[in-house]
This record gives sequence, structure tokens and C-alpha cells, in this order.
Amino acid sequence: MKKFYIATDHAGYAVKEYVKEIVRELGHEIVDLGPQNADRVDYPDFAKKCTEAVLSDKGSFGILICGTGIGMSIAANKVSGIRAALCHDHYTAKLTRQHNDANVLCFGERVVGKGVIADIVEAFATTEFEGGRHATRVAKLEAGCSFGSDFDA
Ligand code: RB5
Repeated sequence: MKKFYIATDHAGYAVKEYVKEIVRELGHEIVDLGPQNADRVDYPDFAKKCTEAVLSDKGSFGILICGTGIGMSIAANKVSGIRAALCHDHYTAKLTRQHNDANVLCFGERVVGKGVIADIVEAFATTEFEGGRHATRVAKLEAGCSFGSDFDA
């Protein structure tokens, strides 16, 4: 069983319960970090809540939803130790777990429909990191990705 923390802004609020149900049906635990209504809020505040929870609970994952998923992913990726992936489909959600060891999933409620959301969440929740050559690259991400002379893309 994995543990997930979920947060949205007002533009992602409408699908939050739907996503929680998908995660539970997959056999995982999900903790709702808000908001608890559709009033307008600022997505960086909820990205902060969720990323703090993920970092303080080793091995856990985050799900962040806003209108496009872009604001949430930008905000989350400013936090050291967070690898947030903005996903649009099953393929991107699967590959970001396999290759990037993403620990936060982002998507946009205004971008993808419920069927695709179910695909994205299922792929992210059930795919494991492949390690190997990808571990070297993730380590470079964690080191701050300073594009110095020793960085060979
Ligand atoms: C809110 O209107 C919208 O800007 C927000 O949900 C998100 O899409 C930002 O990236």
C-alpha cells in the first residue's frame, strides 16, 4: 500500500473526490489537504502544503490539481526533493515514474477528462522507478542540476 497526499486549488476542486476514490480503489491511502470548498485560493499555498507532507513522510506521493496543472507543477518543483510531473495521459504518468522517479503527480482539471484522469492516476500509482541509468540522472536532479562542465546531457 502506498500513501498519497492530495491538494487542489479552486480550479481542481471539482475532481478531488473522484481522484480520492480512484486511489482508494487501487488499494492505497489518500490524505486530503484541501481545500474543503471551491472558493478561490492560490495554488502555491496548496502546493506547499502537499510537498511539505510528502517530504515529511518518506516514500509517500503527492497529487496536485489546478486548472492546467502548470501552476501546481511549477510551484512544487521549486521545493528541493520534489520531482513533480505534469502529466497528460497514461504514457507520461507511467514514464515519469519509471524514468524520473516523480513523487508528485500534477494534472489540469480543465485539460483532461475523467477517463484520462483515471488512466493517469492508475499509471502513476502502479508504476515503479526503474533505477539503473535513470538513478544517475535523478541524482543529478537532486544535486541541483547545475549545468557545469561535468554535466553531459
Ligand atoms: C486558476 O484560474 C488557474 O490559474 C490555476 O488553476 C492554474 O491553472 C494555474 O496554473
